[in-house]
Amino acid sequence: MAVKLSPRFVFNQTKNTTFFLQRRNRVKTKWAGTRPKLPSTALALQHFDAVYGPQLGDLWPSVRIGLLCEKKYGALINNFASNADLISAFHSQGCRDFISSRHSHQTPLEGPPPEPELLHQTPAPLSSRIQCFVFPRGDISRFKPARPDSERLLTYYLLDAASVLPVLALDVQSGQSVLDLCAGPGGKTLALLQTQAVRFLWANDLSGSRTARLRRTLQSYVPKELLTEDRVLITSLDGRQWTDNYKHEFDKVLVDVPCTTDRHSVMEEDNNIFKRSRTKERQMLPSLQTELLLAGIKATRPGGDVLYSTCSLSQLQNQCVVDRAVSEAQQMDITVKVQDLSGFVQLFSDTFHFAPRPPVGELVLPHLCENFGPIYMCKLTRMN
Ligand SMILES: C[S@@+](CC[C@H](N)C(=O)[O-])C[C@H]1O[C@@H](n2cnc3c(N)ncnc32)[C@H](O)[C@@H]1O
Repeated sequence: MAVKLSPRFVFNQTKNTTFFLQRRNRVKTKWAGTRPKLPSTALALQHFDAVYGPQLGDLWPSVRIGLLCEKKYGALINNFASNADLISAFHSQGCRDFISSRHSHQTPLEGPPPEPELLHQTPAPLSSRIQCFVFPRGDISRFKPARPDSERLLTYYLLDAASVLPVLALDVQSGQSVLDLCAGPGGKTLALLQTQAVRFLWANDLSGSRTARLRRTLQSYVPKELLTEDRVLITSLDGRQWTDNYKHEFDKVLVDVPCTTDRHSVMEEDNNIFKRSRTKERQMLPSLQTELLLAGIKATRPGGDVLYSTCSLSQLQNQCVVDRAVSEAQQMDITVKVQDLSGFVQLFSDTFHFAPRPPVGELVLPHLCENFGPIYMCKLTRMN
């Protein structure tokens, strides 16, 4: 039995003994200002539990543990470097190129038929030259850092293998012009160049430091004679104002927007968007993303494609942004159709865990056995 005596002591009487316990210091209101704040990673996890728990239901515990564990990398082969020995070395380590070893047949997913506006099927990227090696399912070995070849070009680039998927889905054809609207630090730009199909690539990012990093990356992987400004142009501009400044229309546009970078947000304090001082910026993300996607749509030629992607599970930043951008484009008399990526996704379902048919686009879910993602992607075709 415990009897309250004073704020400082508790009188505790058990069968044979009586003793006093000093109360633990209580947190007083006036100390609240000096109480340690929750780290941003914890705030991110709290937020995700509240939002993704209901959104993903039974899948959330598995996705959550995936997010909190070490992510898995893929090795994007540099087609501009000498890499024959490297590829056999990867094979002997048990790695496989997830693109060339994909499912050889394209069967429709089970489930309801696609909605009428999802009639366009993205063909399998059969002609892609992109090669990306991964360790087998459940194998958490790490790749060694890449070494330069005799021409001092690095032989591979380590990245989340799921971030190659938006580039594959964009399906660049030989001789096409491509805009990478939010390109820094450059993983997807490099993957776009690995297709060896791009005639002209414009890589842009608002951040000067990010474009500087992108430039350094390209210089380490691509021969300098291919990096002339008539082939690869790098700029640091605000993507939202793109079409106010440039009239060039592209065959393909990649809009890989700033987002809550879910994996980073639960793991790293540095540059964390869940810092209290960045609350406003975080809340404004869907508007910024919509503006960027709309700018990407306007920069696409009629008949061309736009690929919208994020590394977040958030519906607000994924399908809601696509819905808003499509309807805002319609108000400007630009008709955009969402493509059905279900056949594409089926090809890679032995490597990635995809969310069961989100209403718009496709989503790679982190999973302990293949800890890639999250990556959301949605492909749109500009009709007029
Ligand atoms: C998810 S990252 C892009 C990652 C990149 N595509 C890659 O694969 O390495 C989003 C980028 O958008 C850039 N960004 C933010 N606001 C922008 C804007 N208004 N216009 C263009 N880029 C912007 C950020 O600087 C950031 O580098």
